[in-house]
Amino acid sequence: MTDQPASITSDGGVIGEDDVTYDVVVVGGCGHVGLPLAIAFASRGTRVGIYDINDAAVKQVMSGELPFREEGAEPLLRTAIDEGRLHASTDAAILSRAEVVIVVIGTPVDEHLNPDPHAVTKALRDAVHHLRDGQLLVLRSTLYPGVTRRVQAMLAKEGLTVDLAFCPERIAEGKAMEELFSLPQIVSATGRQGRERAAALFRTLTSHIIELEPDEAELAKLFTNTWRYLKFAAANQFYVMANDHGLDYARIREAVIKDYPRAADLPGAGFAAGPCLFKDTMQLAAFSDNSFVLGHSAMLVNEGLPLYLVSRLEERFDLADTTVGILGMAFKGESDDIRSSLSYKLKRILEFHAGEVLCTDPYVTVDEGLLPLDTVLERSDVLIIGAPHKAYRSLDPQGPVVDVWNLLGQGTRV
Ligand SMILES: NC(=O)c1ccc[n+]([C@@H]2O[C@H](COP(=O)([O-])OP(=O)(O)OC[C@H]3O[C@@H](n4cnc5c(N)ncnc54)[C@H](O)[C@@H]3O)[C@@H](O)[C@H]2O)c1
Repeated sequence: MTDQPASITSDGGVIGEDDVTYDVVVVGGCGHVGLPLAIAFASRGTRVGIYDINDAAVKQVMSGELPFREEGAEPLLRTAIDEGRLHASTDAAILSRAEVVIVVIGTPVDEHLNPDPHAVTKALRDAVHHLRDGQLLVLRSTLYPGVTRRVQAMLAKEGLTVDLAFCPERIAEGKAMEELFSLPQIVSATGRQGRERAAALFRTLTSHIIELEPDEAELAKLFTNTWRYLKFAAANQFYVMANDHGLDYARIREAVIKDYPRAADLPGAGFAAGPCLFKDTMQLAAFSDNSFVLGHSAMLVNEGLPLYLVSRLEERFDLADTTVGILGMAFKGESDDIRSSLSYKLKRILEFHAGEVLCTDPYVTVDEGLLPLDTVLERSDVLIIGAPHKAYRSLDPQGPVVDVWNLLGQGTRV
């Protein structure tokens, strides 16, 4: 690691910025994964630079504020900035002053559910002239299998002698500041030196290092997310089965898992949404030439749940004359992230069928159409819990509630 002191303060006092060197620069470092990682490294004394194309997010981060909710991260961010250990910039030139460059940009699937295997190489191509010999380049985005090898070929073509590693991120949003220090880190690299350097880097966060080859690590990350998505699909299918027979899945599940370790990981029902699980299952489907029957079935079940709920409601209510309130628009509980949230899919379906749809969420800040909780409670004929925020647990609504999560403890039947 470099030993030149960083000289940047949060009050804008940037002294000789061009001369500052970084142990680590995180590309995409203002994102949901990049920022907690940057903060975690800084909290361990590492000098961290962030390079991100989102100007507003860079400014927000430099003012000591998180652009999104992440438990426990903001105080650490402020300390890191005040102590001159973290600096964010929209200038890619910052890459050339790093010993290690970590890439954590988004890798979504497109409108045909195809992964973009070029997302990371494209981003790197724009920045490649800022890389220099001797650096360690760590890919941390979730990658379509084979992308690490492609990046290696690209670097070779550019004549760069850079160690290349792939070290996937496996935290869950909202738990990053705990899990970055407690989860095992999978480390892979295209050469021995790169693997040793990457392992040494992540040992500053966790003592649990698991080594794999890059092709294995790429699949390991996709298997991790897909496994979770399949489990949610199994639960949701069981929910539908039970519900179609007038039975409460939550009650049955509780009996199944009670003191029975072999079924302890059977999830409750609920919206399996968000920016990762679905798209990574689709990446795996594309990787297996669309013959991933389990993956596609899981998608049908999970993505079908909002439709199922609406059709059940249609049987019970004259929806055209009904005002439906959705409580919780984030993709999961305690989150403000609405990316790929099934609450919004539910909202769109209901807007076609119901008289009126009212939405609320205590954390989401990017949707001007949201209403205060009290208004939604007061005006709705029927409520649906979209995201299981803890704040809703204490509610005692008098009218009908659809609660597939069993958040209110009154059962899941609809
Ligand atoms: N969100 C999660 O819970 C999670 C968990 C594990 C892994 N991942 C993976 O991590 C990766 C990032 O996901 P995310 O949720 O943090 O995405 P995000 O959209 O929140 O963050 C990506 C960041 O990269 C920036 N960016 C995009 N292109 C750039 C470029 N060319 N140069 C510099 N910055 C650029 C964006 O401005 C944004 O700040 C994805 O591959 C995702 O699958 C996400």
